[in-house]
Amino acid sequence: MEVIIQPTPEEASRLAARLIAGIIGAKPDAVLGLATGRTPVMLYAELVRLHQREGLDFSRVTTFNLDEYVGLSPDHPASYHAFMHEHFFRHINIDPGRIHIPDGMASDIPSFCATYEEDIRAEGGIDVQILGIGTDGHVGFNEPSSSLASRTRIKTLTARTRSDNAPDFGGADKVPHHVITAGIGTIMDSRMCILLAFGENKADAINRSVEGPVTAMMPASVLQMHPVAKAFLDGTAASKLSRANYYKWVYDHKPEWQRF
Ligand code: PGA
Repeated sequence: MEVIIQPTPEEASRLAARLIAGIIGAKPDAVLGLATGRTPVMLYAELVRLHQREGLDFSRVTTFNLDEYVGLSPDHPASYHAFMHEHFFRHINIDPGRIHIPDGMASDIPSFCATYEEDIRAEGGIDVQILGIGTDGHVGFNEPSSSLASRTRIKTLTARTRSDNAPDFGGADKVPHHVITAGIGTIMDSRMCILLAFGENKADAINRSVEGPVTAMMPASVLQMHPVAKAFLDGTAASKLSRANYYKWVYDHKPEWQRF
């Protein structure tokens, strides 16, 4: 895994946005895998800025979001449909027909999930998957003990994740128990993974995912098996990495052709 440590979340987000903009520039019909949560908000803001100020064109881009709460309608303010519209889609020139977000209201969830997987395949697969990380190490909503080969399906949130996401709902007891999430196998099929993590409360999960053993008990650790996984961290999220100085040296000495 390539570990890129920047002084602030803003700088890390700008760098990740530049990488994604470069991918869209080279492939205007790129397929993006998108994440929600507090972490990617600055990344989306920077992509919006690149669209508005530098003409980054999303008109042929296709997107697949990782997850959604079961039982929340798209207009619920805590739904990830609402989040994506608010932070990203309404500010860019994306074709609404190319946006895919799991349907938390699907009446037949297994069939919906199978179709979601087929739709990703039909678009040629995901070129770049954006990921946050839970304090318990989840990616998407693949909680600890998720199969490392899992596909899109229904999952049950841990108490810790429901507590972490309580502010979105005004209390942990109001956070749904169930979600639809792209699986770890689905994520691993992406051609590139970009993991973002900021803040001290992510330091332990980052340490275990980057430098610990690959284990279903720390789902993000599976990215060690991905051929093109890049972790964009701020200094606090990186604070427990034993090789932080090495990762910084590597990044600072990248040859020009390897830069984003
Ligand atoms: P956060 O969530 O960005 O709100 O911290 C990350 C995640 O659960 O993947």
